[in-house]
Amino acid sequence: MAKDALTITDQRTNTTYEAPVELGAIRAMELRKIKANPDDFGVMTYDPAFMNTAFCKSSITFIDGEKGILRYRGYDIETLAEHCTYLQVAYLLLFGELPNAQQEKEWVRDITHHTMLHENTKHFIDGFRYDAHPMGILASTLAALSTVYPEAKNIHDPANRQKQIVRLIAKMATLAAFSYRHRRGHPYVYPDNDLTYTENFMNMLWRMTEPKYVASPVIAHALDVLFILHADHEQNCSSTTMRVIGSAQTDPYLAMAGAAAALAGPLHGGANEEVLRMLDEIGSLKNVPAYIKRVKAGEIKLMGFGHRVYKNYDPRARIIKAVAEEVFDVTGHNDKLDIALELERIALQDDYFVSRKLYPNVDFYSGIIYQAMGFQPDMFTVLFAIPRAAGWLAQWNEMVQDPEQKIARPRQIYTGINHRKFPAGQEEKSAVKVG
Ligand code: ACO
Repeated sequence: MAKDALTITDQRTNTTYEAPVELGAIRAMELRKIKANPDDFGVMTYDPAFMNTAFCKSSITFIDGEKGILRYRGYDIETLAEHCTYLQVAYLLLFGELPNAQQEKEWVRDITHHTMLHENTKHFIDGFRYDAHPMGILASTLAALSTVYPEAKNIHDPANRQKQIVRLIAKMATLAAFSYRHRRGHPYVYPDNDLTYTENFMNMLWRMTEPKYVASPVIAHALDVLFILHADHEQNCSSTTMRVIGSAQTDPYLAMAGAAAALAGPLHGGANEEVLRMLDEIGSLKNVPAYIKRVKAGEIKLMGFGHRVYKNYDPRARIIKAVAEEVFDVTGHNDKLDIALELERIALQDDYFVSRKLYPNVDFYSGIIYQAMGFQPDMFTVLFAIPRAAGWLAQWNEMVQDPEQKIARPRQIYTGINHRKFPAGQEEKSAVKVG
């Protein structure tokens, strides 16, 4: 009878071992039992970039990269984008269920009442140079919040964790908007509790002298959908960073500063900014074939294409493409969309991209929408970070409560010099002379 186990024969010793297969994986520690001799450390796995390593068990987000499926807590991303608000989805990610009417009322009230920043934090943002990258401002200010809420380090107290989660989700929009206003030299706009999460974000970004900000419903809806699509993506680089830092029992503000730093990289959340630079560089439709040629020659990458997990169309890119049409009806046509569509059309027919299963990812169209809304490219990753806070916190909260988790500490395969003698005479040369 078939058994859920692997039989491994060590040909060095001719010994056979059995490793149980649980949920499609074997525990790496099973391999440690395989030793060439009693003094041997045991076999490890070598997996640079975690290509085939499950770092945790998680019940938050499911991705089938081959089929292009993304689900939060079992719900298809398409359904959530169509029927929910970002705050409902954040609740779902964090607590496992969509909120009922009473829960939603309390959740929205709690978030709304935590959007203010401590005035000292505001002054901290003031200290950045006028041209500071807003992701740098965001990551640094998240770290600074750790000094405002020192009790956040009590990570094993569920009520305390809940309080920091509410604060962080609420304040992300304020931090993002303040970093935007700082860059433009405009006075900060304080939150308006009459507005929804997304409308209030727009208010903090764009209100000038008018006494009450009135948000465009199309732009507010588009931003809300973009927030839903970006809210979580299981063990991506920044969520893994959040878990790794959090595993040292660091408070969630410092852990999130690290997650934001990971997101800022051009191979992760920084890709949407790069997509816009790429479209600017291409400039016009006639230059698209020559650009594709350079990509195929390995000179450059087609930014916004390819994904570690999706080997099919990223479902988020499909939804974003539809949102782009709605936004352009309000903001007017953007030539960059034509270039992007042409890049996609050529790439999806070309063997280079087809054979490598390279499809547009979430970043391919999001930057074009953000630009049409009036954002400079360096704000794009900040817009990604606002809703990803929900995912980072859900992953962190799950990790803290997981009895199997400990401080994250991988192994290495040492390839340096084993042992050598210190060069004769060197001790005296480097000794500090006192007196
Ligand atoms: N343009 C051209 N070629 C590409 C691209 C691309 N965007 N992405 C991958 N390839 C090629 C690689 O050169 C490689 O070719 P080879 O087999 O001939 O060497 C092959 O496709 C496989 O690519 P890998 O780099 O092994 O794939 P990996 O899973 O490591 O990388 C990544 C995924 C980082 C997303 C990559 O596709 C990339 O750099 N894309 C552009 C940046 C981007 O859009 N990032 C956003 C990702 S979504 C997100 O983080 C929110």
